[in-house]
Amino acid sequence: MITTLTIALSKGRIFQETLPLLAAAGIEPVDDPETSRKLILDTNQPEVKLVIIRATDTPIYVQYGAADLGVAGKDVLLEHGGEGLYEPLDLRIARCRLMVAGDPHHQPRLSRPRIATKYVNTTRRWFADQGRQVEIIKLYGSMELAPLVGLADFIVDVVDTGNTLRANGLAPLEHIADISSRLIVNKAAMKMKHVRIKAIMARMAAAVGTQ
Ligand code: ATP
Ligand code: PRP
Repeated sequence: MITTLTIALSKGRIFQETLPLLAAAGIEPVDDPETSRKLILDTNQPEVKLVIIRATDTPIYVQYGAADLGVAGKDVLLEHGGEGLYEPLDLRIARCRLMVAGDPHHQPRLSRPRIATKYVNTTRRWFADQGRQVEIIKLYGSMELAPLVGLADFIVDVVDTGNTLRANGLAPLEHIADISSRLIVNKAAMKMKHVRIKAIMARMAAAVGTQ
């Protein structure tokens, strides 16, 4: 009997940009997550399912084996730490940069500047590595608002076009990392379902090169 292979994806840009790569591996979802309320989607292959979750949750599902494979941004993986996962393939989709940003004219608090971010661990590491003392405020979205209302001196967030920063009078200040989405694989699944996972990886890798 063939066991199910489960792939974790988040709605929106990761789902949309992963679709052609999955198609190259012969996997096509039957439902559209943007219109369906289903969280487990069937595909054209009866033994392959997609689970639709929040972007930050993807490494957790794969780490615990609730999904065999997943697609997650490097920003999310840096924050998660990568425990229990392999990260064998850069899919080169959802590309952006993780940056420190702020109002270039703002005078920050002198003792411990406040940094608003959802990337608490990565932010702590970035400033600690440079011996800079900061206070980190955890937010769950709309980070760009924090400096405008005096909640924080700086933010750490992903930047692509820079439009969101510009629209709010902010600018990128320090580059932390280049970001793209990665295929991630549960360590036990990589052993147990090796043949099927290797085949998917090879076909996705070939498609990445041609995008
Ligand atoms: P959630 O909606 O669950 O809070 P999210 O807003 O981070 O999560 P998405 O906006 O779908 O979810 O982003 C998924 C991934 O895409 C991010 O982890 C990041 O790697 C990348 N990403 C985020 N914003 C951009 C952007 N503006 N341009 C390109 N890639 C981006
Ligand atoms: C992300 C991020 C920034 C924005 C940066 O948000 O949190 O707010 O994108 O992209 P930019 O530099 O191109 O403006 P989110 O994914 O919520 O927004 P989006 O889907 O509009 O890019």
